[in-house]
Amino acid sequence: MAVVTNFEPKRRKSSPLDDLTALVAEDLSAVNQIILDRMQSQVEMIPQLAGYLIAAGGKRLRPVLTLAAANLCGYQGEHHRLLAAVVEFIHSATLLHDDVVDESDLRRGMASANAVFGNKASVLVGDFLFSRAFEMMVEVQSLDVLRILSGASAIIAEGEVLQLRTTNDTETSEQAYLEVIKGKTAELFAAACRVGAVVANRPQAEEMALNDYGMNLGIAFQLVDDVLDYSALQAKLGKTVGDDFREGKITLPVVLAFRRGNDEERAFWRRVMEDLDQKDDDLERAQALMARHNALKDTVERARHYGSIARDSLGLFADGPIKQALLEVIDFVIDRDF
Ligand code: IPE
Ligand code: IPE
Ligand code: MG
Ligand code: MG
Repeated sequence: MAVVTNFEPKRRKSSPLDDLTALVAEDLSAVNQIILDRMQSQVEMIPQLAGYLIAAGGKRLRPVLTLAAANLCGYQGEHHRLLAAVVEFIHSATLLHDDVVDESDLRRGMASANAVFGNKASVLVGDFLFSRAFEMMVEVQSLDVLRILSGASAIIAEGEVLQLRTTNDTETSEQAYLEVIKGKTAELFAAACRVGAVVANRPQAEEMALNDYGMNLGIAFQLVDDVLDYSALQAKLGKTVGDDFREGKITLPVVLAFRRGNDEERAFWRRVMEDLDQKDDDLERAQALMARHNALKDTVERARHYGSIARDSLGLFADGPIKQALLEVIDFVIDRDF
């Protein structure tokens, strides 16, 4: 039975992302229709659960990047729409799995799918979305596209597994953390942008420029996500503030606060992040230590650094509204509060 859900993402106050979204609006509404069509299944729980997550909104940042990259490359066909839907399916699948692994109960301002439908259904519908994404990417009949998106999917999974090793380990290095976030997050941004150049048959240099833009934008994106986990307004973020802390996830704000702290502070970090022995006001103490050592501020500074690499990556392309909007997305990613 087909389950129809409302697909208009929630409106938020204007942000630089809106400029880019407006430029690809027609494509994006086609993508939303593809998503709706392709998540259908005779097995009712699949469209119910997938529709629940997808209708809750989300920024649609990755599919917008695919559409914009193809546009930037002068692409005239329609494969980019299918690929943008593929990219959002892969993203949705990783969110379903990630919320089970992270035991998160809030996503996009609503109870997470695992909280509503249970862990088993979330994992299995995540698998369905991954598999459906592969069926769809084959339709583009490009071995390069297949290689890029299947490779990215494997690397995302590796990133999430690698993260298990750094969780609860306060001695995690900045380098090890970067390796995790490149895998779990930045690789999909890179692939989302790169396939835009591939469908448009552009030269290798442009393909790699878009790949580098996406990779560095994705690193900046996750750095800021990790800041927001300690500093956002929960209602705005739509996820539970302090999730990373409660789980003992070692993100850059923790790495910096731990390394810059004194012995007594490091003992605190070991108790809360390694032993997960947490009291009511420990999250507040963690936030205060991060403030004392500029851990959040400097994590945003790191994000600015990767953002500027992303900016320079686009230097190959001729000026125009799409390029301008892609540059503004870098600022959005760094300055956002959701
Ligand atoms: C959440 O991504 C997962 C991360 C990589 C941090 P988004 O913040 O893009 O999630 P939605 O799609 O807008 O909900
Ligand atoms: C993003 O990491 C993981 C993936 C999308 C694979 P997070 O665990 O920080 O993402 P959120 O904060 O739950 O969205
Ligand atoms: Mg998570
Ligand atoms: Mg997070």
